[in-house]
Amino acid sequence: MTGLFITGTDTGVGKTFAAGILAAALRRRGVNVGVMKPVETGCPVVDGGLQPLDALALQRLAAVADDLALINPYRFVAPLSPWQAAQQVGRSIKRSRILSAWRTLQARHAFMLVEGAGGLLVPLRPGTCMADLALSLGLPLLVVARTTLGTINHTLLTVQAAEARGLRVAAVLLNHLTGQPGVQEQAGVEALRHLAPVPVWGPLPFSPAAATDPEAAAALAEGSLPLDALLTGPAGAGPGA
Ligand SMILES: Nc1ncnc2c1ncn2[C@@H]1O[C@H](COP(=O)(O)OP(=O)(O)O)[C@@H](O)[C@H]1O
Ligand SMILES: [Mg+2]
Repeated sequence: MTGLFITGTDTGVGKTFAAGILAAALRRRGVNVGVMKPVETGCPVVDGGLQPLDALALQRLAAVADDLALINPYRFVAPLSPWQAAQQVGRSIKRSRILSAWRTLQARHAFMLVEGAGGLLVPLRPGTCMADLALSLGLPLLVVARTTLGTINHTLLTVQAAEARGLRVAAVLLNHLTGQPGVQEQAGVEALRHLAPVPVWGPLPFSPAAATDPEAAAALAEGSLPLDALLTGPAGAGPGA
């Protein structure tokens, strides 16, 4: 259990951003970090090929040499749930194929960061959702949540659904998606600190440079996340990783 499965309360809440800054910071600390985005949808077509932008961003920020096909075994053009995006092109998503790529990467790296798609109940196929995949990988969850109004409900629902399925939630990570968080956002953050049954990290400040620049990404994670605890805690890679 060395790593984190990064899920979120929704799409667009900052899962890739959070995974990216963690990857950059761990890499800078000398941790052998690997990344995976098992299924990516909404991939643009460039020169006839699908570009999994999240997987490419993670590959770059972690500075790994792993094949993109291992980091991202499934990619689809439709901006739909994995099940529907696959169905649209007459395909289906097989957990065995994801697990095979996972085993290869896990054997190469001391600490794995795996980004889900959408939230926990997003379907991979009828009867199998992202939470099932997280369970198969055996990683604790990092639940990324926005700070705007509505986040208390979405965050607590996600934590409850995770725990009901036997998933361990390492932490909730709150993320400011805009530059000027208001009073309401501060109130949401404070409420979650009281109410969430797990540690609440952040809020990460709005910092566009950290989405692409490895130095800015690493500095942001070092300044705002409990990396020492992460590396030595239950999700940790342990000494000498
Ligand atoms: N703290 C932040 N500061 C600046 N930009 C952010 C921050 N968090 C997310 N973003 C940007 O918001 C958008 C959505 O975030 P992303 O990580 O792609 O969400 P998800 O992976 O959950 O769909 C991206 O363009 C990302 O770079
Ligand atoms: Mg993403």
